[in-house]
This record gives sequence, C-alpha cells and structure tokens, in this order.
Amino acid sequence: MMNIQVNYDDLIPNNVGLSDDPRLNRALESWHPGYIDWWKDMGPEGFQEALVYLRTAVSVDPKGWAKFDYVRMPEYRWGILLSPQVEDRTIPCGEHVGEPAWQEVPGEYRSLMRRLIVIQGDTEPASVEQQRHLGATAPSLYDMRNLFQVNVEEGRHLWAMVYLLQKYFGRDGREEAEELLKRRSGDEDKPRMLGAFNEATPDWLSFFMFTFFTDRDGKMQLEALAQSGFDPLSRTCRFMLTEEAHHMFVGESGVGRIIEQTCKAMVEAGVTDPYDVGRVRDLGVIDLPTIQKKANLHYSLTLDLFGSEISTNAANAFNAGIKGRFQETKIDDDHQLHNDTYSVLHHKDGEFVEVDEPALTALNARLRDDYMNDCAKGVGRWNKIIQKQGVDFELALPHMAFHRHVGHFNDLKVSPDGVVLSADDWSQKSAGWVPSSDDMDYITSLMKPEMEPATYSGWIAPPKTGIDNKPGEFEYVRLD
Ligand SMILES: [Fe+2]
Ligand SMILES: [Fe+2]
Repeated sequence: MMNIQVNYDDLIPNNVGLSDDPRLNRALESWHPGYIDWWKDMGPEGFQEALVYLRTAVSVDPKGWAKFDYVRMPEYRWGILLSPQVEDRTIPCGEHVGEPAWQEVPGEYRSLMRRLIVIQGDTEPASVEQQRHLGATAPSLYDMRNLFQVNVEEGRHLWAMVYLLQKYFGRDGREEAEELLKRRSGDEDKPRMLGAFNEATPDWLSFFMFTFFTDRDGKMQLEALAQSGFDPLSRTCRFMLTEEAHHMFVGESGVGRIIEQTCKAMVEAGVTDPYDVGRVRDLGVIDLPTIQKKANLHYSLTLDLFGSEISTNAANAFNAGIKGRFQETKIDDDHQLHNDTYSVLHHKDGEFVEVDEPALTALNARLRDDYMNDCAKGVGRWNKIIQKQGVDFELALPHMAFHRHVGHFNDLKVSPDGVVLSADDWSQKSAGWVPSSDDMDYITSLMKPEMEPATYSGWIAPPKTGIDNKPGEFEYVRLD
C-alpha cells in the first residue's frame, strides 16, 4: 500500500509498493537501462561525472520531502512518487461528477487518457535535451546546480508518466514508454511532439525565460491533470507540482537577477535611457528592451502549447472526467458546463471582439487565461525590481494574438500592443519585438562560464539566499 516514506531498497525508489507488483517491476527494470543510456547521451553534456549538490525526494510529506547531498547525475535516484491518496475522493467534473474516483482506467477512455499522458511525458525529456549544452556556460556554480536540479527532476517526471503507462496501459503503454526515449528535441525525423519543445535553448537568458514561461505551462497542465478522475494520474501530478515550484523559482529569480544587474549597472554609470542599447551593452549587461523581446518570444511560443482556443478534444477530456480546469474543486458551478458560456477573444471584421462560446469547448482558452494571469503576476514582480532601482522602464506581456502559430490568431500579424499589421509591415517591424540575430549574438558573447564558488558572471546579480540555506561560498558543483 501507499506510504509517505519512499522505499530506497528497491532498484527504483518508490512509494507505490513496486516490490509487490513483479510484472510492473520487471517492465520498469527493463526500461531502466534505456533511460540511463538516454540520460548519458542526451542529459547535461560534460558534467556527468561532476558531484552536484542535489535534492532527492525521500518522502511525499509536504513538511519535509527532500534531502540534499552530492550526487553524480547518472546515479541520481529517479523514483516513482505519488501524493497520498485522498480518502473518498470523487470525480470532480464532467458526466461522472461525484462518482468515486477511478483506481483503474475505464476502458472507454483508455486511448484518450493514454494520449494525454504521452503528450505530458514527451515534454519532460524534451526540456532536458534542449538544455543539455548550458552547463558549459553557467554564470555560476549556483546556477549550474539549479539547471541540473531542474534536469534530473524533468527526468523523474518522465519516470512518473512511464509508471502510469506501464502499470495501466499494458503493451501499448510499454511501447509508448520506449518511444518516449526515441524522440529527440529538434530532430527532423523524430521530433518531440510539441512545437516549443523543439526550439533551441541556446543561452542562459533563454533558459530562465523557458523555466518561467514554458515550465509554467507545464504547471498549468499538471494542475488540470491533478484534477483527473483517474486517481493515480491525479496523485502523480500533485507530487510533480511540488517539484515544479522550484523550476518556476529558477526562471523567475534568474530573470529577476539579470534585470537587477542591468538596472544597477545603468544607475551606477548614469545611463537613464533604457533604449540607449549601445551604452547599456558597453556595461556588459543585457539591456531591458532585449529582455522584453525574449519575454515576447517565449510567452508567444508557450501560448501555442495550449492548443486551439475552441477544442472538442478538450471538451471530451473534461466531460469524461479525465482533465479538469485549473483549481476545479474551488470553482463554484455545476462542474459539467452544459449550459455555461465562456468569453473568448476572436478577430472578426478587422477587430478583436469577445465572443461568448460554449464553456465546454472553450476550456483550452480558459486554461490559457489562467496561465496568462499567473505570468502577469511574475512580470509585475520583475517590474518592482526595475522600479526599486529607479529605472524608467516597464516590462509587459504582449497581446495574446502576437506572434502566434497555433489557434485562431495563427494567420494574423499582430504587434505586441495588439495592432493588426500587413505582412510587409510585420517584416519591417518585428525585429524590434522578437530578438534579432544581433541581440542573440550579443547575449551569446556574454556566455562565459564562472566556475569558482561565490563568483557570478557580470550580467547577473548573485541570489539573495543559497540553496538549502548554504552560505555564499558554498561549492554547489564539484568539478574535479
Ligand atoms: Fe516536468
Ligand atoms: Fe519543470
């Protein structure tokens, strides 16, 4: 039965009683070597032998679930952890609302559920692949450690999804688990399933933006799957969300520290115009307009991950009780939505208009709106850093139709403030809205590693506090 404590005697640490399920245990043990091969091929390049100060989940008790220690990444104990079962939990939404949550997959929803799990599972190794070259240019050992922590946990999230596939989906599940190790981010023949996960993450500003914006899409998807009527999926996602919080912290604080360093350098040098990009770059920091452009890019790519605003697939998953809304159980309605509407932005006859759509088919738009609100709060906290330094500049999220490739704005050209443009106008102006090759070259020129404890590259401020309350001089990664 389920324990709070994790069994570390088994080859695969777990709190799901793996040793009592020999068939599943065999399936996972035979998948394990392929996973390790994948990690060595596609995990952090050049640092597989380094000792990294990592947290490992040893419990699912919210008060103390992790322990920190030096680990070589290929020896990290990737485990299978589910949050505790909520007694008498019921299906929170859809046509089965109020019925007891399922402990097995209902046959009629098998393929729909498998697909959702595979799509979620595919994003986890993809981000590790995207980030594998970044160790070599880490701006500090602290940041390098945070990168590797995110990477091993994305690896564990893959384990989490593979556990569900192998335990509940038989031979199909085992085949999907193999395929998850075969696709590669950015590969022409076998790409990862979703667009943003095939983009490069070439530098540390990109990494921090990715963890802020794209890991936050992960958070929203996990929040929705944590509402699943399929209880093992719900419990798996609830524990993943515990880890995900750190990924979001890495992104938000990383961008925040870059902003802080830029503003401090500007104030010290007496540069008052944030758009005087040349003078700001002479100071060796990243100008705020370029940070805005990076945010525009990562935000718009991530909005595409929410899929079509109007979607019958989303309606089916909700109706079936497989995927809920963000914080479903806290919403005060009938949780079936047959007679409800939801306001969705469209572009009609040359202008943007809100249209009341059937709430059931508008669930992707709704989750995207919840995501946008969550992003806006983080951007507000970045702006506080700028204000505090007395610099006259404000970061903003671009219009939701800006730079989109999925959904009903995909054939429009829209400026960040929501003006629809001709293709010509767009090609002239867009260099000011997403990073140009000059911008990227400049960022790349700053990517010089700092591998001494307590030292930080000149373009990023040190963190306020250490990981696990360690002092500033702590050696987060031992490289010898
Ligand atoms: Fe993840
Ligand atoms: Fe993540």
